[in-house]
Amino acid sequence: MTDERRLLAGPERTVSPRIAYGADYNPDQWPREVWAQDARLMQAAGVNVVSVAIFSWARLQPAPDSWDFGWLDEVMDLMHAHGISVDLATATASPPPWLTTLHPEILPVTRTGETLWPGGRQQWRPTSPVYRRYALALVEAMADRYGDHPALAAWHVSNELGCHNVEDYSDDAAAAFRTWLRDRYGTLDGLNDAWGTAFWSQRYTDWEQILPPRLAASYPNPTQQLDFKRFSSDALRDHLRAERDLLRRYTPQIPVTTNFMVMGETKGMNFASWAPEIDFVSNDHYLQPGPQGRAEMSFSANLTSGLAGGRPWFLMEHSTSAVNWQSVNVPKRPGELARDSLTHVAHGADAVCFFQWRQSAAGAEKYHSAMVPHAGEDSALFRDVVALGRTLADLAPVVGSRRAPARAAILFDWDSWWASELDSHPTELLRYRAEALDWYEAFLDAGVRADVVTVAGLDDGRTDLADYDVVVAPVLHVVPTALADRLERWVRTGGHLVTTYFSGIVDGDDHVWLGGYPGALRDLLGIRIEELNPLHAGDAVRLDDGSVGTLWSDRIDVRPGTEVLARYLDGQQAGRAAVTRRPVDAGSAAYVSTRLGAAGIRPLLGRLLDAAGVGSELPEPLRGRVELTVRRSAEAEYWFLVNRTDEPVGLTGLAGERLVSTTPDDGAGTAAAQDTLAPRGVVVLARPRERS
Ligand code: GAL
Repeated sequence: MTDERRLLAGPERTVSPRIAYGADYNPDQWPREVWAQDARLMQAAGVNVVSVAIFSWARLQPAPDSWDFGWLDEVMDLMHAHGISVDLATATASPPPWLTTLHPEILPVTRTGETLWPGGRQQWRPTSPVYRRYALALVEAMADRYGDHPALAAWHVSNELGCHNVEDYSDDAAAAFRTWLRDRYGTLDGLNDAWGTAFWSQRYTDWEQILPPRLAASYPNPTQQLDFKRFSSDALRDHLRAERDLLRRYTPQIPVTTNFMVMGETKGMNFASWAPEIDFVSNDHYLQPGPQGRAEMSFSANLTSGLAGGRPWFLMEHSTSAVNWQSVNVPKRPGELARDSLTHVAHGADAVCFFQWRQSAAGAEKYHSAMVPHAGEDSALFRDVVALGRTLADLAPVVGSRRAPARAAILFDWDSWWASELDSHPTELLRYRAEALDWYEAFLDAGVRADVVTVAGLDDGRTDLADYDVVVAPVLHVVPTALADRLERWVRTGGHLVTTYFSGIVDGDDHVWLGGYPGALRDLLGIRIEELNPLHAGDAVRLDDGSVGTLWSDRIDVRPGTEVLARYLDGQQAGRAAVTRRPVDAGSAAYVSTRLGAAGIRPLLGRLLDAAGVGSELPEPLRGRVELTVRRSAEAEYWFLVNRTDEPVGLTGLAGERLVSTTPDDGAGTAAAQDTLAPRGVVVLARPRERS
């Protein structure tokens, strides 16, 4: 794996090692006269990297046998002349109209059999051999032409793989699914056992009988559905690998990335399994609407860091202000551009990039903000963009530093996400990520750092459980034996595990662990549940610690030696245990049987953390009002303090040299009073590392 510093800044190729700053740059949407102005403004803003040609296939290859690279040659040269590196797209994200006309068989098909026609973007089947052939020819042409260009700093495979085409139910997908299943199960007997096809007369006697879970007369087989999700994610990962392999053949010295979408409810792509395939992790993030929006942003950035194993990563896209794809698209308030950007840096981003450089005048995204708005350079937004460029320059010392592990972690798992939300379950109201986010927000409110890590990361060593004293595994639904054993070993050596309703229920084939719930975790938790008991929407149950539960309430039988931390006051389980904790050797295992929401989790979390000896590193008055994130290099720790409120917050009692200090007035000035964190502001303190 290549060194991050080189990846992100490309030392021989660009400026000094500093935080990369830039955007998707789409000069092909503009006349040539604008390009020179672009380059000048980029320099003024401190831009040092741009992603080019993401949606340029139709321009680069106007017909099957004709190529037009002249304009891109000019753009590459122009960027180089201005000291700006290029993260060059392979341009395969959106096939041109001539290709879909010539080969309509590359178009994806939905679960209900409808074709996704051209006219938007990303209309291709991940498993189409025809699409793959054309795409790789384009990749080869790009690599051949630009592999030696001095502006080239990284390859950007496709764009947001799976954004619009992750689930394709076409005949190509059916054929590839069968191949994937043969690899997984070897024999039809293996598949029949795993899928439980004795149920509803589903036994397969020939591989050709197997289909994607297309619209069926009733619920499709759940393991078939789960496997199809796994397969669909893997199919896109195969495409990523195919482009990457070709690029590595041509340009082994140039790092390859692709932009993930770790955000909101985007769940089709198991990025935990993709991250090891690329040279550095990139993510796109757009603020989600709603009261948990900023907690969600922090959660996503934190999870991205987990995917990267704590190494620096690249924020490939976010927005300077409003987006265009929500029902109402509100601009950011003063200070939020800098605060959002630095929240990602706090969680390990060594790059802050946007969609896009210049706001489009035409097309579906013309109302999406950009670094240069419709109003032009004489605008508050562009001034904020310039100020942010200066702030990022001041943050150069943090480049290459990693996340300093917290003592607590939240365990996140794509299999559990997918499986817990399948149909024909006890409730269709359960949202896996929402429960994880509630716990994360409770940590933020308590002022206690928590890393978001993945089960895949435990499996391949990106994450070591031994680094953590407390691990919260919300709705850890899929628990194969190896994971149960791993958790138990960690608990016995002093780890404190917290898990919730609908955890430990099934194995990797989505088969229920028998003998009582929570199945694979039952003995470790020291409880037993005979029936799963979801609650109707709108129903709530009170607990004796003052919190209120919704969604679920188990009837728990508590085994000897297990403590009851909270009881239900009303509802079906009135008087019975709601939250339990079993001391296990040097550690403990706790169970929360209802959905408490961030506010309800908060007091409980305090008790659980106290028992584990984990506390906040912030002075008392800052807890909850300030998000603390720590990055660490060999020499120093960088404390990122993000004001979560609209009020100034006093920072007395915190040592360290101020690297930056943003304010809402100029988005990034140094005007904040000493020892004050401005409303919506960010302060970064450099603290020499203590040697033990
Ligand atoms: C991303 C995409 C960009 C742009 C942006 C708008 O999904 O990669 O091309 O569409 O969203 O928010």
